[in-house]
Amino acid sequence: MSKSLNDWKETLEDLGVMGLVPEPPASLQVLPNNVTIHQQAPKSPDVAITPRRQSATRVKEPAPWKAPTDPEKNPSSQLVANCNNLDALNACICRCEACPLGAGRIKFVFGEGSPEARMMFVGEGPGSDEDIMGRPFVGRAGALLDKMILALKLTRSEVYIANIVKCRPPDNRTPHPLEAQTCIRYLIRQIELIKPAVLVGLGATPLRDLIGIPSGITKIRGTWQVAKAGELEVPYMPTLHPAYLLRNYSKEARQAVWEDLQAAQKKAEL
Ligand code: URA
Repeated sequence: MSKSLNDWKETLEDLGVMGLVPEPPASLQVLPNNVTIHQQAPKSPDVAITPRRQSATRVKEPAPWKAPTDPEKNPSSQLVANCNNLDALNACICRCEACPLGAGRIKFVFGEGSPEARMMFVGEGPGSDEDIMGRPFVGRAGALLDKMILALKLTRSEVYIANIVKCRPPDNRTPHPLEAQTCIRYLIRQIELIKPAVLVGLGATPLRDLIGIPSGITKIRGTWQVAKAGELEVPYMPTLHPAYLLRNYSKEARQAVWEDLQAAQKKAEL
């Protein structure tokens, strides 16, 4: 076993992660009642979204939602496009309430890292620690992500970390496609500004919302995809979410993620 993989294994053990829990079958990952297949693009009045394949993730249908027209709470695509750096973008979107998640947040979680990062990680959305801190990946999954980045001999400040949605979904549920597709224009602008050489998608949600593949992360991980952000086409490496690794501490899963990260690092020439 290579030194860094071993370091990482020890790190996981330090985190007190025990046991081997197989991934539940798809039928058990879905809420038993009130589930529907959401196939509608959002109808927000001024939300231009790069066309991508339709999601078909089974989720509870959100309550009817009327997006605000106030540009502070729902900045137009033009306002977002006019932001020429990450600080301007953050200032433009940090009061967003364009989807129902905005009203429930403590803090808006914009993302952080190097504005010139060659490697950019994309997660799902803030959890409770992130909501309190206003920073991505600062809870248990974040501690593991930090160790993974360190195992690559990189630091958090050399990469960029962001999420599909910038506000915490209640009870840490998966963001609804409507929420994700309303928010993703902000992530797309972040990608356009950073121009990373490679994106690492953590788990099923970025695969669904950024790539348009609605399921199958455990099979698709490790296979190069392409993320479109405006004119840019960025190589995208799907891998398992660190929270999944915390629940499924198998040698295979750890090895798989390590291989995915190394492939991404190599592509980024870091
Ligand atoms: N999980 C995510 O996907 N993102 C975070 O920021 C934290 C946990």
